[in-house]
Amino acid sequence: MDAVTSPTPDAPTRTASALPADHPLSRGITTDAPLLAAYRGEKPSSRPVWFMRQAGRSLPEYRALRVGVGMLESCVRPELAAEITLQPVRRHGVDAGIFFSDIVVPLKLAGIDVDIVAGTGPVVAHPIRTAADVAALPELDPEQLGPITDAVRICVEELGSTPLIGFAGAPFTLASYLVEGGPSREHLRTKALMHADPDTWDALASWVARTTATFLRAQVLAGASAAQLFDSWAGGLSLDNYTRFAAPYSARVLDAVADLPVPRVHFGVGTSELLVAMKDAGATVIGVDHRLRLDTANERLGGSTPLQGNIDPALLFAGDDALHRHAAEVVRQGESAPGHVLNLGHGVPPDTDPEVLTRLVAYLHELP
Ligand code: CP3
Repeated sequence: MDAVTSPTPDAPTRTASALPADHPLSRGITTDAPLLAAYRGEKPSSRPVWFMRQAGRSLPEYRALRVGVGMLESCVRPELAAEITLQPVRRHGVDAGIFFSDIVVPLKLAGIDVDIVAGTGPVVAHPIRTAADVAALPELDPEQLGPITDAVRICVEELGSTPLIGFAGAPFTLASYLVEGGPSREHLRTKALMHADPDTWDALASWVARTTATFLRAQVLAGASAAQLFDSWAGGLSLDNYTRFAAPYSARVLDAVADLPVPRVHFGVGTSELLVAMKDAGATVIGVDHRLRLDTANERLGGSTPLQGNIDPALLFAGDDALHRHAAEVVRQGESAPGHVLNLGHGVPPDTDPEVLTRLVAYLHELP
């Protein structure tokens, strides 16, 4: 074994040769950022923090920009998507930008009739339920991602030494929207399809994996310094079903950026029993929701994987004293892991007072 040229899954190499010469990692601009040091399991110069859904309705400046512009329309206007990405970085002083887009954007760009309905989520006009439906799915051509890569380039230019995180939705979560036709609590049709017609499930999950992988890889090549895979609904699966029907397809997505020197973060909600399988799918960092203590997550993962999380979003409404006490406890529990990036256990709720977030970032940055 050549330890120098064969990075372990937990320690992405720091050389940036597989990336374009103008990528922030090739130029060394983001390489030593606290976020990336913690993701590599090194000691960062300060404690890194960012928030899932930090861009969006909690910010009045976001609501102002979105007046009269549909959600998915805003994702394909590069100047607008870049500006929305930057808003929370400027306002809160967080340690990363998360690219403003949505997990269904690559489906939309491939030609699927999907929209995001405010207060509901993604709605698919013609649900995909049969072998014939799957066979008719359009292939996404990377050329169709022009608005995405243009927006990423603007973001990284503006962000300078602050890393941009690119992201994608995992095949199970996206396939659930396609099969159910919209958000679902139990994912009954999706789970029934897996068991009743495993070949059609395989074809569908394979199509989603290709499509979402193309979206993720395009963001990294265009300038993102880290990649996060969101499998928001994976927690609805048993470990056996996750391992059989979801993990192999998520592994393909993570593998699509594994030749690039970026951390691969894998996050889901209610996934306490799936953490090891999510790591084994090819992640280098595991995002943990607020249901599991970080020191317990670290033990389950064998103490070798940097973690991200897991402040309970409900505490954003509990007053600064309770919030900061809880955040300090999360910091303490995270110290057991080889690296820790502070985040929430799920996204910022839309009615969060943004000043609570700004004060939380300042508190975490000042904490000894
Ligand atoms: O700040 C960020 O996190 C960056 C952008 C981002 C969005 N969606 C923007 C968005 C990211 C990373 C996502 C991921 C996403 N989208 C996930 C995975 C993460 C998670 O929350 O579990 C999922 C499941 C979706 C699908 C989706 N899109 C939902 C459930 C919703 C909410 C619908 C609603 O109105 O309650 C969306 C819409 C969406 N995506 C908004 C934003 C800012 C709100 C749209 C608006 O402003 O009207």
